Amino acid sequence: MENKVKKIREEVESFIVSSSEELEKFRISFLGSKGSVKGLFSELKNVAIEQKREAGQLVNGLREFVQNKFDVLKEELESSSDDNQKIDTSLPGDSIELGARHPLSLVRSEIIEIFSRIGFTVSEGPEIEDDWHNFSALNFPAEHPARDMQDTFFIAKGDTPQEEIALRTHTSSVQVRVMENEKPPIRTISPGRVYRNEAISARAHCFFHQVEGLYIDKDVSFADLKQTLLNFAKEMFGDKAEIRLRPSYFPFTEPSAEVDVSCTICNSKGCNVCKYTGWLEILGCGMVDPNVLEASNIDSKEFSGFAFGMGVERIAQLKYKVNDLRLYSENDVRFLSQFTSGM
Ligand code: DAH
Repeated sequence: MENKVKKIREEVESFIVSSSEELEKFRISFLGSKGSVKGLFSELKNVAIEQKREAGQLVNGLREFVQNKFDVLKEELESSSDDNQKIDTSLPGDSIELGARHPLSLVRSEIIEIFSRIGFTVSEGPEIEDDWHNFSALNFPAEHPARDMQDTFFIAKGDTPQEEIALRTHTSSVQVRVMENEKPPIRTISPGRVYRNEAISARAHCFFHQVEGLYIDKDVSFADLKQTLLNFAKEMFGDKAEIRLRPSYFPFTEPSAEVDVSCTICNSKGCNVCKYTGWLEILGCGMVDPNVLEASNIDSKEFSGFAFGMGVERIAQLKYKVNDLRLYSENDVRFLSQFTSGM
């Protein structure tokens, strides 16, 4: 009898009830008039008289156990079906808000697309740079005032400027890495984040983004540079866009120029963004200085090249007419959700 009671207890424990049909099945098989507990009661009459009392207590205990279990299962089933009834499947679902790409990411992709159409690859380099790649190989002599053009965040000072490690101040450092590792012809652009030790304001930030361009081959001329940049301006700002070049100075290019694009905001009529000149500065460029080619073991008698560097925030500012640089890194969703790739 003891074994039978144990077996029924085990069956009761492992019985799974998830619907009212199953609950009824539970009731019939254990508590019903032909159920196993009733069966044990009728077996009691065959138990020897001296064991009857103990056996009776066992079976009574079992019945109580099964009845309790039945009550608990019933209650659980009822409360879960109450929950089900609370769900109104005819109500509209929660709307899922679509994210938007960051405006700088959109502009970066567009710049990459424009240059990849004319055969430029994409190269990347580290944001923590040594002096060689950020300055020396780019023809910035040690202690030369040209280094002050770039307010640098140093990470490790050395005994000499050549041993210093810094956050890169421009993506021109990637030029050097590409020239060290590849042989001409080289045609590549390098997008990335750069850092300058500047006070944050609407017009300056301590980090921003640039896209560097580099083209090295035999007989590359300034005319190639000009045509490449005109093509970029028209693709980026529309067919009516014009460019003009002004002489400038960078240690790594000779001759060097700054490039303006006709003002996209007032159609060159003059407005406060272009300071009533009709022109907006968008990038620096020039013919790669022979010293820079030689520093990366490229024969400057055989090869020539051009380079350019543009600020991604600057292009985004002209494209989206956003004139406060801080907005790009504040992550205000009201600002970020306004930009779509279909511009
Ligand atoms: N590296 C310059 C800067 O950060 C931009 C630049 C100017 C890059 C002229 C070039 C270049 O490659 O030829 O201001």
